[in-house]
Amino acid sequence: MAIPSAPPGPSSTDAADLLARVQAHGAVPRHVAIIMDGNGRWARERHMPRPFGHRAGMAAVRDVVEGCLDSGVQWLSLFAFSQENWQRPVSEVSALMGLLEEYIQREADALERQGVRVRVLGDLSRLNARAAAAVDRVVQQTSNGTRLGLNLFISYGGRAELVRAAREIAADVQAGRLAPEAVSEDTIRDRLFTAFCPDPDLLIRTSGEQRLSNFLLWQVAYAELYIASVLWPDFGRAALYEAILDFQRRDRRFGRVAP
Ligand code: IPE
Ligand code: IPE
Ligand code: MG
Repeated sequence: MAIPSAPPGPSSTDAADLLARVQAHGAVPRHVAIIMDGNGRWARERHMPRPFGHRAGMAAVRDVVEGCLDSGVQWLSLFAFSQENWQRPVSEVSALMGLLEEYIQREADALERQGVRVRVLGDLSRLNARAAAAVDRVVQQTSNGTRLGLNLFISYGGRAELVRAAREIAADVQAGRLAPEAVSEDTIRDRLFTAFCPDPDLLIRTSGEQRLSNFLLWQVAYAELYIASVLWPDFGRAALYEAILDFQRRDRRFGRVAP
């Protein structure tokens, strides 16, 4: 009996078509953030161990980065490993750290050539020496990129980020550098990992889950949310363009009344 194959993913003509529609529609989101979820389920559907799904997820990252470059998105934030993910089995954590090194090794030159500037955000003190060295290398190597800012969130938690900001503010107040009444939204904003870039306009989560899982709690205050039902390894530039097309139809009011 023939093994039924998965329906084919969108072809490159579909992607080119969708890109043309995105461009005809007008402005693309300046900053897209993605919770890349569903690698484990993708592997399970194929009766394979979870790291197999994480590896497939790496290819989706490349495609989405290229989709951002082609459509003119300026910032891409990817949630790759949460603070809570440290609680996964040691074997899965080491597979993920190994894949991070492999991703950097494989992609650093292309990212540099394409004008992508990589930053890695999170509690990097918990990374092992090899992963930390790889991170330093790609950040350094791509530091002149100006076409796309790629923020990889690793060992990141939104609440921990806010605690870190609160501690810095408390220290500044204690040292007399900052008056309590001078603390504003900007005081907090400037102490987040993302101080250098605008807030996300569009937040995508794959695999159908409808939660933030502690990602960018402060920064997504007015992001448009888009839940994609596909698992992350099946997400690519065509799916990104579909999300952008949906975003372009939204009416962003920011609490005001539409004119
Ligand atoms: C996302 O896929 C990748 C990480 C969180 C590191 P998952 O590993 O969470 O996959 P599921 O959600 O179990 O399918
Ligand atoms: C969120 O996915 C973290 C990343 C995508 C890196 P999880 O799979 O860890 O989130 P939960 O456990 O479903 O909330
Ligand atoms: Mg998950």
